[in-house]
Amino acid sequence: MEKSQNIFDNDAFFEGYSRLRQGENYNDLLEQPAMRELTQDVAGLDVLDIGCGWGGNCAAFSDAGARSVLGIDISVKMLSRARRENSRPNVEYRLMDMCELGELEGGYNLVYSSLAFHYARDFQRLMADISRLLLPGGTLLFSQEHPVVTATEGLQGHFILNDRGEPAYYAFSDYFKSGLRVSEWFVEGVEDHHRTMGEIVTSVARAGLSIDTLCEPAPSEEAIRRLPALRKELIKPTFLIVRAVKSAV
Ligand SMILES: C[S@@+](CC[C@H](N)C(=O)[O-])C[C@H]1O[C@@H](n2cnc3c(N)ncnc32)[C@H](O)[C@@H]1O
Repeated sequence: MEKSQNIFDNDAFFEGYSRLRQGENYNDLLEQPAMRELTQDVAGLDVLDIGCGWGGNCAAFSDAGARSVLGIDISVKMLSRARRENSRPNVEYRLMDMCELGELEGGYNLVYSSLAFHYARDFQRLMADISRLLLPGGTLLFSQEHPVVTATEGLQGHFILNDRGEPAYYAFSDYFKSGLRVSEWFVEGVEDHHRTMGEIVTSVARAGLSIDTLCEPAPSEEAIRRLPALRKELIKPTFLIVRAVKSAV
């Protein structure tokens, strides 16, 4: 089986990404508030976090009373920081590529993933694996880069400025050309995988999961006050969040 890219173990990438997450950032001000609003009460639940990174969400699930949390990630650097900073007695961190989820046993009440699924090569298979791992009545909640952002070859989508030099429009292309996108983000050669909104929603549905929420979070005025660069994210969607449920019978 072809291996997935593990860019977070690249020293320069890891350093750049870690710096980005310090201080005010898109995750904390735009993506995470929407994800928190859509996360059920996890008390007593078994949770799987795919692409758990350094484990902030795994620790939060444990602190909120989850029975067990398994965080999987492809990056050794991410997991060593998770074990160092976000260790809990009922949280296990496991080095695993999400394309190997077929090898995982067990049933989960909640499968959660924050900003990792745009790295998945085979989204249909990912959804099928997750559907198998979910217990009846279980929930999948995930966020990813929005397809409008992942669309353009080389991730060259960009804002167009008005006469005053302010972002006024967003230009993108290649929307219907699904597949690999290679771009420069901290380092050259970073791989993302673009899928249309239709392909994403259809893959979730065909895996037997019922979507109850499709959310494209817009920045709040408070978020813009804390990070003014977020104002331009009122022009186009930045993230896509999907919540879906496996039938209880
Ligand atoms: C943008 S970070 C988000 C981390 C964490 N979910 C958070 O919100 O803080 C994406 C994470 O997905 C992981 N990842 C990327 N591709 C992966 C794969 N094929 N299998 C498992 N994890 C992967 C990366 O190593 C990284 O930790």
